[in-house]
Order: sequence, then structure tokens, then C-alpha cells
Amino acid sequence: MEFLSNKPLLITDTILRDAHQSQAATRMTTEEMLPALEILDSIGYYSLECWGGATFDACMRFLNEDPWERLRKLKQGLPHTKLQMLFRGQNILGYKHYADDVVDLFCRKSIENGIDIIRIFDALNDVRNLEQAIKSTKKYGGQVEATLSYTSSPIHNEAYFVKLAKELEQMGADTICIKDMANLLLPMDAYSLVKALKETISVPIHLHTHNTSGTGDMTLLMAAYAGVDIVDTALSPLANGTSQPATESLVATLRGTVRDTGLDLGKMSVAAAHFRKVAQRLKEDGILDPKVLNVDTNTLLYQVPGGMLSNLISQLKQAGQEDQYYDVLAEIPRVRQDFGYPPLVTPTSQIVGTQSVMNVIMGQRYKVFPKESKALLRGEYGALPGEVNPEVRIKAGIAPEDVITCRPADRLEPELEKYRAEFKEIAKSDEDVLSLALFPQVAPKFLEQRDHPEKAAATAASVSSSTADGVRSISVVCEENIMKNL
Ligand code: CO
Repeated sequence: MEFLSNKPLLITDTILRDAHQSQAATRMTTEEMLPALEILDSIGYYSLECWGGATFDACMRFLNEDPWERLRKLKQGLPHTKLQMLFRGQNILGYKHYADDVVDLFCRKSIENGIDIIRIFDALNDVRNLEQAIKSTKKYGGQVEATLSYTSSPIHNEAYFVKLAKELEQMGADTICIKDMANLLLPMDAYSLVKALKETISVPIHLHTHNTSGTGDMTLLMAAYAGVDIVDTALSPLANGTSQPATESLVATLRGTVRDTGLDLGKMSVAAAHFRKVAQRLKEDGILDPKVLNVDTNTLLYQVPGGMLSNLISQLKQAGQEDQYYDVLAEIPRVRQDFGYPPLVTPTSQIVGTQSVMNVIMGQRYKVFPKESKALLRGEYGALPGEVNPEVRIKAGIAPEDVITCRPADRLEPELEKYRAEFKEIAKSDEDVLSLALFPQVAPKFLEQRDHPEKAAATAASVSSSTADGVRSISVVCEENIMKNL
């Protein structure tokens, strides 16, 4: 078999972001990253993915760390390697649509604090939700990696993704990412899709996948044959399973071929020795459950992302209905069809998953609609890729004329000054204002802890005792799951 490109394959390592997000609930601390930066910086990666996604929330919520401070430290320790982040279009890193001025400031501050490449995606592949982030990233000198959220459905075929990529290239993308968040892109399809993209698109193609179903390495190899320019892998201590395929394995596989990465396995083994200790710590703390490393063929069978499955199990446990697991799995594709085939990625994966759980445990389909389901059906997240089942929409209380057809953010007035005024007592910088705007439930507590540690210790004790005995409704649990899972 012949390689359709003779350029070295470029590697983005995800060890500082998606690897621990996927395997260990994003709990690697900045302190655990710093000792490895010098060796990571010397390897010669195309980039290091290190920020965005769930890292921002997890820093404040669980690690008592300022995400902006983490970014500045990473930049300082990685002067020779491009830093890459994951950015959810008009949602930024939060859970709703933000006005354009907030998106603009977030792009500006990310770049000022050290980000070089912003991977921008939208759960529905509605390009209008990427417009502002693309514009702002370019304006402040960042590199735009515009993203195809990969999925399969009667609507999402190769022609759909090639057309979408063309559109993103015309909007100014510097690179195009195929984001296979659910590990649905099988090796032969990857070959075919990458080949088609390379024939149509002139900017580099970057592939992101996972190894949940055990097909990730093969997918990357077939993509390398088809001429993909850049791939995401993770250093071995936090690779495979729900994370990315291992960097070292792919580097060794391509050695001596025309696509030899030229990266030094010796240096990687030094870095890996460090992250093995981190992985061990995460295991000892019960955060990294070795089960995430098993090949999970349910993804192949049900086309449901691995993270979503664990979420469903926890929702059903909370409701005391674990025996309904397979009924919920069967319900997911039906809800997805009724909702117009959204790709299953945050937030749509949680919305479709929660609706499916509701439909099963209430014993009647669409008896209850969480508010996120209604918002999705009303078009508040953007245009759904396919037709929505009109009966379901009516059951949700949404008339055809209620459906939003404009760019969702066009309905939002500028918000920045409002946020600046609202948070002027607690925010010390624009970075703080952004943290507060995106995570209003989490950031105030974090900032208080950061700026007034004595006072925070006293309130923390009273908060934990009041939530411990509270009985929570299913919808609260569902909302929390939406919040938790990025
Ligand atoms: Co991912």
C-alpha cells in the first residue's frame, strides 16, 4: 500500500488536556505538569493541546486553580511549542451561547496569555456559531483550526463533510480538524474521508480520534496513508481506551517510511516516565478507573460516545433504575432521529442522553422535556442538521413559527459591560470577568478562595453540610450531569 503523501506526519500530543480529561476527569494539576515541560518542549511536536475543553472548569471546580494562571505557566515552560486549545464556538467553554463581544474578549485573552492555535467547533456543525470565534482568533493573531464534528447518520456522509470543510476553508480556517470525539470514524472510512478532503481542501487536515472501541490506532494509520497532515495522540501513560492512541506506538510504526515523524522516542520515554507517576497518583486517588482502558465495543454497536455511556449509568443509578440501561441505549438513536440527527458531543450528547433517560424512566416517551431539550428543538443552539419530528416538537410546546432561524447569537445584545459591572466587586481582571461569566456557579467560590482564603474556609464547611442531606430531583441530577460532562 502506498502513502498518498510523502511529508512527515505532524503530531499534536494531548497529554495535558484530552488525555486526562478522557481518562481521569481532567484532574491533572498544574504542579504535575510543570516538571515535564522542558522535555515535552524539546520533542518537536506540531503542538501540545493543553487548555480549553473541561480543563478550565475543572481547574476552578476541583483543583482550586486559576485556569489563566495555568496557561501562563505552560506558556513560560513551553517556549518552542505551539499551545493549542479546544473552544466550543459561541459557547466558548461554557454551557450557553454568549454574545459576540464576550467571544471576542475570550479569544483575545486566550491568545494574550499564551494560546497559539484555537480549535473551534460547534456541536451541530452550524458554521454561524463559528463565525465570531474565527474572526476574533484571526484578529488577535491566533491560528484558526476550524472543526468538523464527526458523526454518522443518514445526513452525515462524506459529501456532507467535504462541503462543510470547503465552507470552513472559505471562512478563513488555517487548518481543518476532523473531530471524532466518539470514536465512530472507522479506519477505512478515515482513509476515504481524508483522501476526499485532501483532493478538495488546500489547508492542512488534522485528525482527532479516541481509542474507546480499539480502532483508533488503525484509524490514524489509515489516515496517514491517505495523507492526513497532523494527528492527535497521547503519551502512553494516559493513552488508549477512552483517550487518544499512544504517541510512541504511532511514531515507531512510521519510522523509516516517507511519513516518519522524526520525533525522538528516547525523549518521549523520559516524558512518559514522569506521566506514569501522575497516572499512578490518579489511580491511587480513585480518579482513574482502569476500566476506561478496556476496549468498549458498545460504541461500535450503539454509536454512542463512551463518556455518554458512563453518564447514563450514573443518571440511572441516581434514579434507582439501572436495570433500564439497555432500554435507554435503544432509545438514544430514536431520540436523535426525532431531534434531527445532532452529532453527539457536548452539549447535544447530554441533551439527547437525558431525554432518552426521561423517556424510559417515565414509562412514556416525551412526557417530560428538560429545558435544554426545548432549547435545542427551538433552534437556540443553531440549526439542527436534519428534519425535526414535528409531533415531538409540538409535544414540547414549540410551534413551527417559534423556531429560530437566524444565527442564535444575533439575538444577544452585547454582554461584556453588563458582566464587568455585575462582577466588579470580585473580579480583579478581564480574565476573572470571563471566568465568572462562563462559570457563575463555580468561579465566585474559587475567586473568594484565591483572594480571601481565610473567609472561604469558613463558608466551605457550611456549604458541604447543607448539600449532603438534600434530596435532589432527577432533573437537577440531569442538569448537573450536563454541567459536569464537557
Ligand atoms: Co476528544
